[in-house]
Amino acid sequence: MMQLYHAPASPFVRKVMIVLQEAGRADAVTLIAASGTPVDPGSIPLDRNPLGKIPALVREDGGALYDSRVICRYLDDLFDLGLYPGGARLWPVLTLEATADGIADAAVLMRYESVVRPAEFRYPDWMAGQSAKIDRALDAVEARWLSHLAGPVDMSQIALAAALGYLDFRQPERTWRDGRPGLAQWFAGFAERPSMQATAAG
Ligand code: BEZ
Repeated sequence: MMQLYHAPASPFVRKVMIVLQEAGRADAVTLIAASGTPVDPGSIPLDRNPLGKIPALVREDGGALYDSRVICRYLDDLFDLGLYPGGARLWPVLTLEATADGIADAAVLMRYESVVRPAEFRYPDWMAGQSAKIDRALDAVEARWLSHLAGPVDMSQIALAAALGYLDFRQPERTWRDGRPGLAQWFAGFAERPSMQATAAG
């Protein structure tokens, strides 16, 4: 049995969990609760991931994989899921996945800034810079990626859904749907998938 170091709120863990659910193979991993922060790896095992980050996946042969992009690609290969198209169609999928992960990354950093960084060290411009990254990325998806989102489910869509779900969870005040009707409509449909329902945090 594989082991997945896991926290339900992490959008990067959620990518992996959505992939497992889409594969119908959630039974293939044992979940191990793990938590840490940028300043303290906490219960995240450094012998599995020296970066002290989740998700980390321990394979049946004992080898560990990280980060979410590597793990998802491994699971796609293991279960033959077809989440990464072949040929030139791969590059848009990886680019949109990177865009989605960038949204999630900025939002997670904002969360740490709010709950981990001592108040006397806070830097509002840094928070605003992360928030602007999210806005620009969402605008780019609305402007250029809706036709891709109308296509078959792939890894970029799963990553985007995990990122948007995290915004709803941790930044409900952002009201990211305003001015982005195409993205809002796409997410409303994707969020109904059983894989999304089974992996919602909070
Ligand atoms: C959160 O609680 O927002 C969170 C937890 C784990 C990883 C990233 C974010």
